[in-house]
Order: sequence, then structure tokens, then C-alpha cells
Amino acid sequence: QPAAQVLVASNRGPVSYALREDGTLDAKRGGGGLVSGLSAVDDKMWVCAALGDGDREAVRRGVGEPGVRMLDIDADVHADAYNGIANSVLWFVHHLLYQTPVEPVFDAEFRRQWASFETYNRAFAEALAEEAGEGAAVLVQDYHLALVPGMLRELRPDLRIGHFSHTPWAPVDYFRLLPDDIAEQLLRGILGADRAAFLTRRWADAFIGCCAEILGGTGHTRIGVHGLGADADFLRGRAHEADVDERMAALREQVGPGRKTIVRVDRTELSKNIVRGLHAYRALLDERPEWRGRVVHIAFAYPSRQDLAVYREYTAEVQRVADSVNEAYGTADWTPVVLHVKDDFARSLAAYRLADVALVNPIRDGMNLVAKEVPVVSDHGCALVLSREAGAYEELGADAITVNPYDVSATAAALHEALTMADDERTARTKRLAAAATALPPQQWFLDQLEALGQG
Ligand code: G6P
Repeated sequence: QPAAQVLVASNRGPVSYALREDGTLDAKRGGGGLVSGLSAVDDKMWVCAALGDGDREAVRRGVGEPGVRMLDIDADVHADAYNGIANSVLWFVHHLLYQTPVEPVFDAEFRRQWASFETYNRAFAEALAEEAGEGAAVLVQDYHLALVPGMLRELRPDLRIGHFSHTPWAPVDYFRLLPDDIAEQLLRGILGADRAAFLTRRWADAFIGCCAEILGGTGHTRIGVHGLGADADFLRGRAHEADVDERMAALREQVGPGRKTIVRVDRTELSKNIVRGLHAYRALLDERPEWRGRVVHIAFAYPSRQDLAVYREYTAEVQRVADSVNEAYGTADWTPVVLHVKDDFARSLAAYRLADVALVNPIRDGMNLVAKEVPVVSDHGCALVLSREAGAYEELGADAITVNPYDVSATAAALHEALTMADDERTARTKRLAAAATALPPQQWFLDQLEALGQG
């Protein structure tokens, strides 16, 4: 294969493999902004990590997709880097998730995992250096690969390197929970890029703040903001396929006639604030008995990062709180909360279409695409209750009912306001939300970054 002119690097790639019992491999293609964004260019290469046994087996058998290189990094090294550092430390720092009186603890075990994180980042930098053509553009994605731009710059000074953060960036006082040398190394890693980009101005400013305070500036790295939007064409088509219609019929049946729905869809992940959302719904039923029997809270949660105990415990807590609301308020013909912990995109689209209210209340979120997808596919208009701490708030705040995600009482009041919004207002707001949500479609989002990198 000839050297690529456009390269993308990310931990999770566009395809994954499951090993079936009979020994064959089952390929599953992922969706998302990066996949559709990258489809806008030819002559490209995606470098990603083998994430499970199926992926590793695929690499060993030489099975793969054209334009995708999966790195078979030692399983223990990958686990330390992905579970230990990326999803325990870096995710927690950028989403402000630590219970600081007891966490975090940076000890010898952390240092051991950090060494794996460096090894894993180096494996990416080396693969990219091998695959990239002279002067190629390399777009490195997210916190997992924060050290790659710096490492790659040393190997290949000719490349144009971009880094994109899909998460928030921590404010400097919180970022400084990290050991000083690690904080510096992370910043310098990203500053190895010609351009470091973020989903919103707020996260870009936080990054600049960290650089200013910890390093004294950003050197030659330019900072950009590209607010990834929803993929309207894809979503509108997909939301009207037969499997979605089927699931809608099933959901309608489950909800029961004449009832309103409050819908949420998240990964089972601590920053999503699913538990407080359930508490807010409980408070609504408690304080406004008129809603009992007249509304159903549909909560779909996609299992995520379940190798880590803290994510498993959170998932169990979501289940416990949902059960307790059903026990406290449920009746023979009304189940107040319908919770499904399963990965089912068609069913999520079905829920989006019939939702009266969408609840998106993260503690902190890089963007949150659910908030952008719901208004695009909604059948009859949907009121959006949105956390002011989601990146999407910058673009959608004006037509959403916004909440402080920690304020359960205010969230309950916002749910009531959303449920009682007049039809014409809900429809008008949904229209404006859909327009704002699709302002920067994934392909343009991707091309804008390439173009900006070319201006160096
Ligand atoms: C966030 C991150 C992505 C990540 C995704 C799913 O959106 O920014 O980089 O791929 O979560 O998490 P996972 O750990 O399953 O890849």
C-alpha cells in the first residue's frame, strides 16, 4: 500500500472483531463523527489499537479492512494504558470525577501504569511514522494519545500534526492534581502538534490556561475549535428503517397510551449523571403527584468500560436507583422507569423519535451528541433539558431548558417545565435546535481541521 497523505489515529478504531465459538471472526463497523468525517477524503489510513481478543486474532490472521491498521500492542500494556491511565486518571481529571478526600493516589503502581501509557503512545507514533507519506497530515484523537504528537514530531519533523480532544479539558487547579512532571508531559505531548483543537471554546481556554500557568505558554502550537455536529442525512435515513419502526411499536406498547416520555441515552459512565437524573425524576413524581401514571422515563444505557470496577459499580447503582423508583411508585399497569442496559442504536433512535422530553444532564461532557441527535430525528418535537456543563450547551443552550447538573430539585422543576411546554413552542424550539445541531456536519468538521492544518 502506498504511503498515506491523511492519517487518523485513535484508540478505538472504525471496526472491531468478535471471535465466534466456531473460530470465525465477526466484523462490527462503528459509526460516529470520525467515521463519517473521514469518508470525505481519499488516500487515508486509520491507525487504531486492537482492543480485545477478536481484534488481536484478526491482526494475527492478517484479516482487516483496507486503510485500517490495527496495532497489536501487548495486552497488559494496553490494559494499563487504556483502563489504568486513560479511563481512570485522564478521564477522571478532565470530567472532575474524583472524590478528592481519598482520591487520586499517585504511587508506584501509577508510575508503572504510566510507563505502559508511554509505551502504548510510542507504538502509535512509530506506526504513524511508518505509514505517513512525505508532508502528510496526521490527526491524532483524544486523551489516550496525548503523548503521540510530541513523539511523532521527533520521528517525522516533516509531518503536519493535529491533535483533537473529544473531552472537556480540566481547569488548571484541577489539572494540577496530577504529579507535576506528568502534567507537564501531557501538555508538552499535545503541544508537539502544529494545532490542538477542541469541541468548544471553553475547553480550548482551559487548555490554554493550563499551558500558561504550568509551562508559561503554548509555543508554536495553534489552538482551534471545531464543534462537531450531528449527521442529519445519516440520522434521518437510519431513523426510518424498518427495525427502528418495529422498536417504536414495541416502545409505545411498553409506555402505554396517552403517557408522556422522558428519554435519556448514555454510555454507563460516571460523568453522564444518570443517577441524579433518576433522583430528579423521583422528585418530580414525589412533588407533583399529577404526573404519576402519566409519564414514563425511558433510560437506555450502553455498557461502557466494564473492565473497571468503578464503572461496573456505577452501572449497578443506576439499576438499583431505577428499581427503587419502580418499587416506590409503580402500579399494576404503570412502570415509571424503563431502563435497558444494552447497546441498541435502533432502539435509541426509536426512543428519540417518540420522546416528549430528552434529559441530557452530564456533570461535564466534551459535547454530547445525544442532545444534538434528538431534535434532528424527533417526530413531533421534543423539549430538551440540558446541563450547562455539556459542550453542546454553547450551541443549544438558547433553546433548551438548562440545568445545573448537581441540582436535583432544579432538574425536577425543569422536567416539569419541559413536560408542560406548549406544542407550538416545543415544535419551534426543536426546529431551531436541529438547525444548530447540524451546523457543522462530520464531513465538514473533518475537512475544516485538515484545511486549518494546511495553513501552518
Ligand atoms: C468518549 C471518548 C472517545 C471514546 C468514547 C467511548 O467519547 O472521547 O475517545 O472512544 O468515549 O469510550 P470507549 O472507552 O468505549 O472507547
